[in-house]
Amino acid sequence: MAQTNDTQKPQSGDPCGATDSAFLLNRRQFLFGAGAVVTMLSMPSGMIRRGMPAQVRAQMAQYERKSIAKLSDLTTGDVVAFNYPWEHAGSANFLVKLGEAAGGGIGPDEDIVAFNSFCTHQGGPLAGKFNTELGIAGPCPLHWTSFDLTRHGMVVAGHATLGLPQITLELEGDDIIATGVMGLIFGYYDNAVNPAG
Ligand code: FES
Repeated sequence: MAQTNDTQKPQSGDPCGATDSAFLLNRRQFLFGAGAVVTMLSMPSGMIRRGMPAQVRAQMAQYERKSIAKLSDLTTGDVVAFNYPWEHAGSANFLVKLGEAAGGGIGPDEDIVAFNSFCTHQGGPLAGKFNTELGIAGPCPLHWTSFDLTRHGMVVAGHATLGLPQITLELEGDDIIATGVMGLIFGYYDNAVNPAG
C-alpha cells in the first residue's frame, strides 16, 4: 500500500499540486500578497489612480455665538443652565465657576467652564449633579459615571467611554459667550443639525 506523508512531492502534471516552483507560493509570499490586496482595496480610488496620498482638508463645525451669562454675576460654585447650540431640550448645558483653573476655563481665574448636561453613556441627566468643590459632574443617576470638569469633562469612573461634551466659551467684556461644542452631544448624530427640524 502506497505511503503518503507531508514531505511527499506532488506529481508533475497534478493540477492540485503543480511541481513547477514558479507556481508554488510559500506561506510568506501568500500573506504578503494578500496584505497588498487588502491595502489596495482599502485605499481611496483617487489615491490608487494617482499613486500618491490623497489630501483631506480638516473641517471645523460652525456654531452661532450666544451670550449666556455675565462674568460679574458669578461667584465660585455658581451654576447657570442654558441651551446651546439649539433651544432644544437635548441641548441643555450648564456653566459652572469652579474656583480652580480648568481646561478651557475662561475668566481671570480660568475657572469658568460649561458642559452638556447629558451623560455620554446612555443620556442620564447630570443637571444639578455637581460637586463643584471637586470639579466633578456626577455620579450619573443611571450607571454612576463621573466626569472631571477641570479636564475637559474626561471620564473619572463609570460606564461612559466618552468625555462630556464641553461648550467652548469666550469672554467679551463682561459677557460670557458660547462659541462651539467639543464632542458629540448624546442622542445627536451631528451637533450642527437641529433635532427640532
Ligand atoms: S447613562 Fe450615565 S452612566 Fe449610564
